[in-house]
Amino acid sequence: MFVPDAEQQSLLEKEAHRLYGLLSSVSHNNGEKWSLPDCYKAAFYTLRINRLKKEKNAIILAHSYTVPELVYGVADFSGDSYALSRKAVDTQADIILFAGVWFMAETAKILNPSKRVIIPAGHAGCTLADAITEEEVRSLRAAHPGVPVLCYVNSTAGVKAQSDVCVTSGNVFDIAAKMPQKELIFVPDLLMARNLEIELAKRGVKKKIIAAGGSCCVHNKYKVEHVSVLRRKYPGIKVLAHPECHPEVCAAADYVGSTQAMTDYVAQSADKIFGVLTEQGLVNRLEAEYKDKTFIGAFGICSYMKQNTLDNTMRALLNPSPDQEVQLPAEVITQARKSLQNMFEMSR
Ligand code: 13P
Ligand code: SF4
Repeated sequence: MFVPDAEQQSLLEKEAHRLYGLLSSVSHNNGEKWSLPDCYKAAFYTLRINRLKKEKNAIILAHSYTVPELVYGVADFSGDSYALSRKAVDTQADIILFAGVWFMAETAKILNPSKRVIIPAGHAGCTLADAITEEEVRSLRAAHPGVPVLCYVNSTAGVKAQSDVCVTSGNVFDIAAKMPQKELIFVPDLLMARNLEIELAKRGVKKKIIAAGGSCCVHNKYKVEHVSVLRRKYPGIKVLAHPECHPEVCAAADYVGSTQAMTDYVAQSADKIFGVLTEQGLVNRLEAEYKDKTFIGAFGICSYMKQNTLDNTMRALLNPSPDQEVQLPAEVITQARKSLQNMFEMSR
C-alpha cells in the first residue's frame, strides 16, 4: 500500500480541500453530494495528472458532459463543442488530451494536425456520429446535385470531409439562416433538423431541409411529459432543453440552446430553479458554479462521455495505447478542415 510522506500528505490535503471547495455542491449520479473522502480519492490522481501535464507540455480539454473530477480536477478548459474546438486551434501545447468522445478528439486533430491528440476513452462513440457514413453523404449529394451539405459537428472526420459547412448546437440556426441556398442537406441529427426547420420558419427564412441520420440516445428520451412533471413538481421552474431534443420538448421548454447557451441563460437569469434537459455533466457544472440556484436534472447520462476517468486520463498521459491516439489520413484532414473553417468564417 502507498503511504505518503509528510510533504506528500500535506499536498494531498491541500488538493483534496481545493477539490472539495469546488465539488461539495455537486451531486453524484445516485443523488449524494461529493464528500471530502471522495475528494481525497480524486486528489491522488489529480496531483499526478497535473504534474504529468506540465512535464509533457499537454493541455487537457474536457467536454462539460464528462465527470466533474476531470472538469474541475485536471481540465485546463471545459465547455461546449464549439469552444473546445477553438481552444484546440489556439493551443501551444505539444499534446492535446481530449476528454470527450472520439469525434471531438478527431475534430481537435483536424484543426491542429501537428499536435498529438489523445483521448482517455479511446474510440468512445456517439449515436449521432455513428448514424451516417461518408458513402451515405456522397449518395445524398448525388441525389440532390448542387445542394450544400451542413453537418453537425457530432459526425466522423470522413463525414466532415464530404460536407461543405460544419455546425455546432451553438451556431446551427444562425449558419443555416445565412446560407444563400433554398435547400440544404443536414446530417446526422434528424431531431435537430426538425428544430432547424421550425427555427428558420420562426425567423421568416424559407428553406427546405433534406435530413438524414439518427438521434442522440440521451436527448431523444426526453418527452413532453417530463416537462409537465417538472412544472407540476416545481412551480416557477425554468426548463432548458438542448436542440438535440424532440421539437415538441423544445416547444414546451422555456429556452433551447447549446450547453454553453444554457449556462449563459442561467448566469443572466434572476430565477432560482431550473430543469435541465440535457446530459447530467452539465447539471453538475451548473451545481458547481451557481451554488445559490437549484438544478433538476433528468436522467440523461451519456455512457460514452463517462468512459473518461481519472485513471485512464493518467494512463493516456503516461503512455497512450494506439486506440487512445487519433491518427487520420492527411487528405481527410485537409478536406474536413475546410468544413470546420467555413463554420468559423460563418460564425463571425
Ligand atoms: P454541445 O455542442 O452543446 O457541447 O453538445 C454536444 C453534444 O454532444 C450534445 O449531446
Ligand atoms: Fe453523442 Fe448524445 Fe453522447 Fe452527445 S450526449 S456525445 S450526442 S451520444
